Amino acid sequence: MTTTYELALGSLLLTGGTVLGSDGPVLADVLIENGIITAIGQGLNAPDAEVLDVEGCTVGPGFVDLHTHLREPGKEQAETIETGTRAAALGGFTAVVAMPNTDPVLDSAFVVRAVLGLGATAMAEVAVAGAITVGRNGQELAPMAELSKLGVMLFTDDGTGVQNGGVARRALDYCRGLGATYAEHCEDLGIAAGGVVHEGYWSSKLGLPGQPASAEEAMVARDLLLAGELGARLHLLHLSTEGSVDLVRRAKAAGIKVTAEAAPHHFTLTDASIASFDAVYKVNPPLRPAHHGDAVVAGLLDGTIDAIATDHAPHTPETKDLPFDEAPPGMLGLETAFSLSYERLVLGEGLAMEGLFDLLSTNPARIAGLDAQSDRPFGQSEHGGRVTVGRTANVVVIDPRAAWTVEGSSLASLAQNTPYEGRKLQGVVRHTILRGEVVVRNGEPTR
Ligand code: DOR
Repeated sequence: MTTTYELALGSLLLTGGTVLGSDGPVLADVLIENGIITAIGQGLNAPDAEVLDVEGCTVGPGFVDLHTHLREPGKEQAETIETGTRAAALGGFTAVVAMPNTDPVLDSAFVVRAVLGLGATAMAEVAVAGAITVGRNGQELAPMAELSKLGVMLFTDDGTGVQNGGVARRALDYCRGLGATYAEHCEDLGIAAGGVVHEGYWSSKLGLPGQPASAEEAMVARDLLLAGELGARLHLLHLSTEGSVDLVRRAKAAGIKVTAEAAPHHFTLTDASIASFDAVYKVNPPLRPAHHGDAVVAGLLDGTIDAIATDHAPHTPETKDLPFDEAPPGMLGLETAFSLSYERLVLGEGLAMEGLFDLLSTNPARIAGLDAQSDRPFGQSEHGGRVTVGRTANVVVIDPRAAWTVEGSSLASLAQNTPYEGRKLQGVVRHTILRGEVVVRNGEPTR
């Protein structure tokens, strides 16, 4: 097997935490030696190990983000692979999937190889979502077979949806042949008609051009039909409407091979925020009325939506300070995703902590093909699952009792466009462990 990553040498003992193991949560110590989990049990003894007292904390598999804009190459003023993966580690993520809307676009082996190479030594593992079409132009297919040989498992033109149904159908078919997944940013630009916010009360009141929920739902419906017809695997990015959730629920019941993700901002904010005219609340798909967010939550709870993904989208202050309709869409997400999801789903809806780890770690790891060691060049290590002996130590330690206050200027991301400025959030990422290395200790990056 070819591996490009290294396991950390030395040993680490996590004592007294609630460990999400294969038989459910247990109170136990976890011993990690040379990057591998070697023992789980009470009263473990390892004289040479670094000891982290994690009493009162949850010890689970590191989170996996299916949707991170790392901005490198091309927009390094907003984020780099180094700063984005530091933000990821601070957010408890041990792996992220880098989106291809960089400059140049991640549509060639040359650029994909460069990103994977930089990611190999980063503070979180980096997988790549390759572009579906050359330059994300929606016309000619990118060299998907070549990219898949580099280990690319997901293809998307994220930032825009593939508008031409014929191109989408051909790409879905190609993905099926390659054993890859076609991932769609669902937005029919004809229906969206240049809308920069959700079409409804607030767009009318503020005089901002709106796009209706059907701009998203029409493409969801189209892709579900195509994927069903071809037997291809479809992943739907950042779903945000009640209708989309309903379509996916029915498609799953009909046996279509579809998975879906939702972003925390779509279930913790509403379009009422745009009344401030502050472009920090501009995002695509747009923030919507509360009943859409409630439907997304219902979808997360009943398994219709498989994963929480951040859509971490850093933008410089110069661009985010432009008038609302000119500013780029997108908001930071990596460092706030856990706390927001914990508050809304665990504290708000009574979801078990294990269920939250399924949404933030196990399911996204599976969708990204990061749930097992791979034999691909730039192959990543294994993520998600449960904390069990023999697994690579990609682990996060969460303190559910602690709270923190979001401050854009203190986030590790180069950009500061968080819509949660000043908000107190419950649940803190204490330690993040990547292949046995403590990359975040007591909430601070170690490199
Ligand atoms: O809000 C968004 N920002 N949505 C996208 O689809 C793209 C992203 C970005 O790249 O900034």
